[in-house]
Amino acid sequence: MGDEAKVLVFSFPIQGHINPLLQFSKRLISKNVTVTFLTTSSTHNNIIRRAIAGGATALPLSFVPLDDGFEEGHPSTDSSPEYFEKFQENVSRSLSQLISSMEPKPNAVVYDSCTPWVLNVCREHPGVAAASFFTQCSTVNAIYVHSLRGAFKEFQDDVVLPAMPPLKGSDLPVFLYDNNLCRPLFELLCSQFENVDHIDFFLVNSFDELEVEVLEWMKKQWPVKNIGPMIPSMYLDKRLAGDKDYGLSLFSAQNECLDWLDSKPHGSVIYVSFGSIAVLKVAQMIEVAAGLKQTGHNFLWVVRETETKKLPSNYIEELGEKGLIVKWSPQLQVLAHKSIGCFMTHCGWNSTLEALSLGVALIGMPAYSDQPTNAKFIEDVWKVGVRVKADKDGFVTKEEIVRCVGEVMEEMSEKGKEIRKNALRLMEYAKEALSEGGNSDKNIDEFVAKIAK
Ligand code: UDX
Repeated sequence: MGDEAKVLVFSFPIQGHINPLLQFSKRLISKNVTVTFLTTSSTHNNIIRRAIAGGATALPLSFVPLDDGFEEGHPSTDSSPEYFEKFQENVSRSLSQLISSMEPKPNAVVYDSCTPWVLNVCREHPGVAAASFFTQCSTVNAIYVHSLRGAFKEFQDDVVLPAMPPLKGSDLPVFLYDNNLCRPLFELLCSQFENVDHIDFFLVNSFDELEVEVLEWMKKQWPVKNIGPMIPSMYLDKRLAGDKDYGLSLFSAQNECLDWLDSKPHGSVIYVSFGSIAVLKVAQMIEVAAGLKQTGHNFLWVVRETETKKLPSNYIEELGEKGLIVKWSPQLQVLAHKSIGCFMTHCGWNSTLEALSLGVALIGMPAYSDQPTNAKFIEDVWKVGVRVKADKDGFVTKEEIVRCVGEVMEEMSEKGKEIRKNALRLMEYAKEALSEGGNSDKNIDEFVAKIAK
C-alpha cells in the first residue's frame, strides 16, 4: 500500500508539536510513504544538529528548510503578532516554491493545525491534499469550537456543553477563561478552526476510547480521525524496529538519571516535569520544592536550565539521595522505569498521552493553554490521577502537594488503587489503537490509501 505516496510534514518548531508530527512521519514511512520533514530557516541548523544527536537523521526521511524570514536562532516561542504575520507570509511563499519545484508533486502536506494557512498553499497546487494535524485532544478542540460559535461567554464559570461533563471556568483551556493572557496565542489557537470545513483530512493525536462521546460529536461536524497516541512504537505495538525515542530533542537529556532510578525501589519515585515551556513563579517553585521534600518520597524533578535559579539555595545539597534534579530527562524511558510510582505533570497533551500509554498514575498541576482541561479529564473522566487544588490566585500550597501525592502513592489508598487500575486499562487501549487493525492504525492506513490514489 502507498508505494507512490510522497508527503511533506510541517510542524511548528517547538518540542510539544515536533514530537507527535515526527512520530506520525515514522508511521507513514512504515507504510511506504516518502516523507520530507519541513523545518524553518531560523531553526534548521539547530534541528538538524538535534536530529543527528537523537538519531532522527538515521530515518529514511529528509529535512528541508522553508524560509521564515528570521535570523538563525530566533526563538520559535516568539508569540508576537509581528512574528506570526511574517512567519506565515514567508513560510507560505517558501512552501509554495518548494512544491512548484517538485516533480512529481507531493500527494499531501500534513501540517500543524496552528498553521491553517497551509491549506491556501495546497490549493495553489491542484492534487496536493491538505491534512491538518491537531496536537491537542478532541475535547479541547470541541471546546474551542463551542466558544467560537458563542456557546458560552468569556469568563463564564459554569459551562455545560454537549458530550462532556459540566465544566468550571478553571477547567477550560486557559485562553477561554482569561484571554488577556496572550491575545496572539489565543488567536492562533482559534485560527485552527477557521477553515476546517475545507481541509481534506482532520487528524487528531488521540485515540478513540479516550474521548468516545466528544469524538462522536466532533464527527458530526467534520470527518475527524484519531491517529494517536503518537509516541514511539517501542512503548505501544513494537512494530517499528528500534523506535524507542522521538529522535529529535531541542534539549539535552541527562540520561544518568536512569542509573539513579535503577537504585530506587519499585514504584517509589515521583517523577515531576512541567514540559518544555511552562514557567513557574518563584514563590510557586519554592513551594513545590518544599512540598516534594515534605512527602518523604523519592523524586526526580526536571527543572529546565532557565528555571534553576528559582530553586531555594542549598536545596539540591540538602536533598541527598532522596531527590534528583535534572535539566531535561529522557521522559519516555523515565515513565517506563519500574521505580516510577507517579508523574506530577503540567498536563501538556504529549506528557498526558505518554503517561496514559505507559499506565502511569498522574498528579495534574496544569498551568497554561489546554492543560486545565486535560487535568479535569485525568481526574474526573479517565480517573487516572488527581489534580492539585489551587487557590484563587492559582497558587498551590505544599500541603496540597503532599495530599495529592498521598492519594496516589499510598499503597492502601482506595483512590490510589482505582487510579492504578484505570491507568492500566487505558494503557491497553492505547496499545491496541496502534496495533495492527487498531482504530488509529486503520485511520493511518486509510489516509495513506486515499492520498495515494
Ligand atoms: C506544549 C503545550 O504546553 C501543551 O499544553 C500542548 O498540549 C502541546 O504543546 P509542552 O508544554 O512542552 O507542550 O508539553 P508536552 O505536550 O507535555 O510536551 C513535552 C514533550 O517533551 C513530551 O513529549 C515529553 O516527553 C518531552 N520531555 C519533557 C522530555 O523528553 N524530557 C523532559 O524532561 C520533559
